[in-house]
Amino acid sequence: MAVEQDPHTKQNTTGHEWDGIKELDTPVPKILTWSYILTLFFGILYWVLYPAFPGVSNFTRGLFDYSSRSAVMNDVAVASKTKETNEAELLSKDLTDLAQDASIKHKYMNSAAILYKDNCSVCHGPDLKGQTNFPNLADHHWLWSGDLSEIETTIKYGINSGHDEERTAEMLGFGTSEALTFNEINQVTQYVLSLSGKTTNDALAKKGQSIFNEQCASCHGEKGEGGLEVGAPSLTDKSWIYGGSQQAIKDTITKGRKGVMPAWEHRLSPFDIRKLTLFLKWKQDDARAQ
Ligand code: HEC
Ligand code: HEC
Repeated sequence: MAVEQDPHTKQNTTGHEWDGIKELDTPVPKILTWSYILTLFFGILYWVLYPAFPGVSNFTRGLFDYSSRSAVMNDVAVASKTKETNEAELLSKDLTDLAQDASIKHKYMNSAAILYKDNCSVCHGPDLKGQTNFPNLADHHWLWSGDLSEIETTIKYGINSGHDEERTAEMLGFGTSEALTFNEINQVTQYVLSLSGKTTNDALAKKGQSIFNEQCASCHGEKGEGGLEVGAPSLTDKSWIYGGSQQAIKDTITKGRKGVMPAWEHRLSPFDIRKLTLFLKWKQDDARAQ
């Protein structure tokens, strides 16, 4: 195993030989040597500056005295401070002013959309347009006024929700209570249809009008425009909670209706309820702008 010079590369061999093949004694590339030295240096520096070695009851803390736990605690403190500031900002200001503030909209639109999707869209639909039994929140026809603080109150306490502060809204069944006869219900149905411009039996509708004035106008208004004090819907538009067909309207009058909107006070924070209130307004504004 003598060291000899390879005649082709002029390099020394290591003296190892397998089946006549001899290994060249190639030096380690400089870049590797230097990387090794640098890594070593970095390692020692890290031990000195940062926590590194476990001891019996503690560990070496390093000159920087860094701790990932306190770094996380700091981040949490900063985040909760920001949340506090945001909450104070949203809850202390007037809803109407907030609704017009473009920077507030920019800041909260996305998180409010997620809140809506998680909590409200099952009933009111992903596009806010409602479905049978659940009112449309995208149009401008409000049961309880479009005033933002009224909307916030509805979300907070609900309608027929069982909450102490609930809004109560009930349309009694005029057939089940026998307040109206079958014929009278047919007549007033024709009149209700006429209010939103549907073709009707004019003679029946005319008779229905006087029944409406006596029995219905106190809640739904003289012209069927709706009554915000009792949450009675307008009967003059194309927006129906329970359906605008002759049969659906007849069913409503015969059996009555009592929709339930859950109270969100104990499920969502005041901050989230406020965001949702603004969200409904922003979506309506966006739809109107299109
Ligand atoms: C379980 C179904 C259900 C869920 C979930 C629900 N709602 Fe409702 N909501 C209703 C019903 C039903 C009504 C109408 C009650 C009635 O007929 O009087 C209503 C009415 C409303 C009204 C009043 C509309 C008006 O015209 O005055 C608002 C505002 C409203 N909901 C917002 C929300 C928001 C925001 C959420 C999510 C936090 C939500 N709702 C979740 C069922 C629901
Ligand atoms: C005590 C008040 C009150 C009286 C009186 C009343 N309603 Fe109603 N009506 C309501 C309320 C509240 C609702 C909504 C119920 C709900 O959504 O839970 C409603 C809903 C309706 C609806 C369904 C509207 C929709 O969008 O689907 C029709 C139709 C209707 N009423 C017709 C009548 C007619 C016709 C009469 C008279 C025979 C009448 N109402 C009398 C309070 C009243």
